[in-house]
Amino acid sequence: MKGYRNRLFSGVTTSMDRQRRFLGTLVREPLSVGAVAPSSRRLAGHMAADIAPGSRVIELGAGTGVLTRAILDSGVAAADLLVIEQNEAFSGMLRKRFPGVAVRTGNALGLKRYAGELPGPADFVVSGLPLLLFSPGRKLRLLHQVFSALTEDGAFHQFTYGGRCPVERAVLRRLGLEAALLRFTPLNMPPAFVYRLQRRR
Ligand SMILES: C[S@@+](CC[C@H](N)C(=O)[O-])C[C@H]1O[C@@H](n2cnc3c(N)ncnc32)[C@H](O)[C@@H]1O
Repeated sequence: MKGYRNRLFSGVTTSMDRQRRFLGTLVREPLSVGAVAPSSRRLAGHMAADIAPGSRVIELGAGTGVLTRAILDSGVAAADLLVIEQNEAFSGMLRKRFPGVAVRTGNALGLKRYAGELPGPADFVVSGLPLLLFSPGRKLRLLHQVFSALTEDGAFHQFTYGGRCPVERAVLRRLGLEAALLRFTPLNMPPAFVYRLQRRR
């Protein structure tokens, strides 16, 4: 236990430490975490699909940083990545794990306050938020800000455990968006679907 605490403090955490931290937070705040385990590396790879080196990316609800790792591994520079995570323990851990990445402790629904910190509009917003637990009104407010922060061709990637898009048709229509299933990831707990939302052409 002491070794675990020391590692958390120093920022050098093992994947087992991160699982423990995730489970501890899940027990205390089930409705904000909304998942039984961090995403698998396979799912993280699917969420980062098509993110090319040089892209500017915003990540929402980063947890212990599985998707953050995949985004950086796709060639995104640390200075071109902005992370918003509301849980303080997670955001502290992310700052230590990913020096150079702007990690903000805050609500993704306050995105417009932070988006200007990137050197330009984002090409992708990658979300690990538990959207199924958001009301349609909250999704509308969130996506309005997301698409204001994105370039004209920018895309929003979201995973879900439900077999269909976690954003209602009425919300998509109101914002002029279309959704497409990008990938299915059976190798995740639970199996997950990755959706891409973009402006309707
Ligand atoms: C399902 S976990 C996903 C964690 C990680 N992205 C992954 O894939 O393993 C959801 C994360 O979103 C964060 N979160 C939930 N609601 C949020 C909000 N409104 N703003 C920012 N972060 C939020 C939680 O604290 C948690 O870290």
